[in-house]
Amino acid sequence: MPERTNSSAVPRHVAIIMDGNGRWARQRALPRQAGHRAGVKPVRRVVESCAERGVEVLTLFAFSSENWQRPAEEVRGLMSLFVDALDREVEELDSNGIRLKFIGDLTSLNPVLLERIRAAELKTLQNTRMTLVIAVAYGGRWDLAQAAKRMAAEVTEGKLKLDDINSECLASYLALADLPDLDLLIRSGGEQRVSNFLLWEIAYAELFFTDVLWPDFDANELTRAFDFFCGRERRFGQTSDQVGAATC
Ligand code: IPE
Ligand code: IPE
Ligand code: MG
Repeated sequence: MPERTNSSAVPRHVAIIMDGNGRWARQRALPRQAGHRAGVKPVRRVVESCAERGVEVLTLFAFSSENWQRPAEEVRGLMSLFVDALDREVEELDSNGIRLKFIGDLTSLNPVLLERIRAAELKTLQNTRMTLVIAVAYGGRWDLAQAAKRMAAEVTEGKLKLDDINSECLASYLALADLPDLDLLIRSGGEQRVSNFLLWEIAYAELFFTDVLWPDFDANELTRAFDFFCGRERRFGQTSDQVGAATC
């Protein structure tokens, strides 16, 4: 019997929970911020690698709605790291054909960061090689709640009919509307949980967990994740016979 493998070798949409910066720093007796700084390089690596492999959308979890509860100094450090990273990277992302999109409760961000975000989105709007989505101040529950609120408002205004609300309709109000379905979710740092990331979108995503801490995440680890994906048989509720075997 041939080993059952995925019908599509390359996931169209990959999302990553970039976890483990704090523990990476702690192992080296460094402040947590040093771990966050060390986490920038692997971001560059995975963006390049995913674009080269033909991934259409890469969604990175940079800061969760719950991360606001961290010590103020750490939050400040992360926000200034985001501003610096945008200042440094947008030019190159743009010249590499990457479109940048940010999702999350962006109104909660400081005006300096928000201004950089809007400028980066505008500058890279026409790029088509890959979409890089950065989730900042994002929570899956926030996303579902904002979608419900907007739908309710449109029903009240008579723009949306109650009978037209179904899962497809709801999806069109979520932050990732109009992008391909999530295929592969990767989490570094050893935890096997979702931490309020893409709650709706993980419905049929393949889940890859690795103990590697985010600052150590490299091309080798990404290859392991892609190989794992390639080896999955995605049945979407059907039987194995129905979906048939395909090779990577
Ligand atoms: C992920 O690393 C970065 C953010 C959540 C912003 P952590 O800071 O959560 O690292 P650990 O989990 O403490 O090692
Ligand atoms: C998830 O990591 C958020 C990001 C990686 C941005 P956390 O470190 O916040 O998750 P928990 O608290 O361990 O669940
Ligand atoms: Mg963590």
